[in-house]
Amino acid sequence: MKSHDHFFGRLEGFAVNEKNHLTLNSLDLVQLAQLSDRPLYVLNELVIRKNIRAYRQALSTYYPAESHIFYASKVFLNLGMCYLLNQEHTGLDVCSEGELFIANQTDFPHEKIIFHGNNKSQSELEKAIDANIFAIMVDNACELEDILKISESKNAITNVMIRINPVVEVDTHAYIATGVRESKFGVPIDDPSTWSLIELAFKSPFIHFKGIHFHLGSQITELTAYSQAIKKIISYIKRLHDKCIHVEALNIGGGLGAPYTIADQSLSIDGFIKELCQGICEEYQLNNLELPKLMIEPGRSIIASAGCTLYKIGHIKGDRSEILYAPVNGGMSDNLRPSLYQAEYSAAIANKMNWDGPTQKYKIVGKCCETGDVLIQKITLPQCSPGDVLVMFVTGAYQHALASNYNKHTLPGVLLVRDGAYEWLTKEQPYSDLIQHDLVPLHLRGRDKNLND
Ligand SMILES: Cc1ncc(COP(=O)(O)O)c(C=O)c1O
Repeated sequence: MKSHDHFFGRLEGFAVNEKNHLTLNSLDLVQLAQLSDRPLYVLNELVIRKNIRAYRQALSTYYPAESHIFYASKVFLNLGMCYLLNQEHTGLDVCSEGELFIANQTDFPHEKIIFHGNNKSQSELEKAIDANIFAIMVDNACELEDILKISESKNAITNVMIRINPVVEVDTHAYIATGVRESKFGVPIDDPSTWSLIELAFKSPFIHFKGIHFHLGSQITELTAYSQAIKKIISYIKRLHDKCIHVEALNIGGGLGAPYTIADQSLSIDGFIKELCQGICEEYQLNNLELPKLMIEPGRSIIASAGCTLYKIGHIKGDRSEILYAPVNGGMSDNLRPSLYQAEYSAAIANKMNWDGPTQKYKIVGKCCETGDVLIQKITLPQCSPGDVLVMFVTGAYQHALASNYNKHTLPGVLLVRDGAYEWLTKEQPYSDLIQHDLVPLHLRGRDKNLND
């Protein structure tokens, strides 16, 4: 197996050293893997920055009016990431009080934060209103009423945008399609109450109605749904305009997919933005409208390809003639995507690059007590032995964010690599964390307690 057969050839920063080990930014991944007995998430800082800059560059090339990028923090968020985003002059899309809390710990500018969510709590709304963020993305009529009441009680004017579901066919996994009729998010474009909701926001003295938001879903690699949504939403904006309701901002959500395997189609950030901006500009021109502030909320396309996960192989199981089980020291507790929505990945054995020995088909399984804990259903790799380092590629998005303590596995640490050096971005979770919030009621402390006592 020659190195160029591997998917990693399409990714930035990877190479093979004289020991035939896989390296990332000149760091030997076999050595890095020895830093922990748990899996390790590794992020390449330069790729994150490059992707953000690619968005900025494309927007300034193809969109002639003002534009803003709000990184979707659900994808991966910690303190270091907030600082990095701020250095890159990028806004933040949060969807919970927890995400807002993390941003606040870094003094992230409130005017660069937007707040999402289909069931925001009173406390979340109050915090967002008090912070006077760029805008709350209103999901439904009851939420707008709550915002009105809170704003009135505080004598505040709250910035809002309304999340409209454009109701189009979206070509992605059903669990991550949001612009479809069945979605729980936003208000449907063809529902008359959506119009009343916008009118109410527009007329209220306690609301600054900034505009419209839509988000089609995630891991989208084909743009037909975008052009349909853009047409529908802009013709809706034209109808609002004709009733003197001004839409100053249009937020087109996130959604650009990342290639995870050699078979996956890939669309560059530049190509994606070019096509969307051309579509938007054309529709605005056709409708004789002035271009709005354009907002975009990318997540996966910024950080997925910047990440990889290092695992160690355990004892191989199975009959040599079939697909063998290769278990790793992690699993669905650090990467839920394969079990949640059959996501596929590529991998390599970092200590067996340029391999000319025997190869074998493996099913890469985790160590969680679930039959569905399979990370890769079938992959051909150099014949594996316990201790080999398996690198799974493109794991920067929705992995650490979806990780859990299932089976009481501790959460892996996150390493940030840059210029041949690494630093911890999040330390590995200690076992003491697993019990830090447990309390033992007094009556449970003694031994041999009789239930009738
Ligand atoms: C409202 C909203 N915006 C942005 C995103 C980010 O999407 P992606 O990571 O596909 O760019 C999501 C995630 O699905 C989302 O729900």
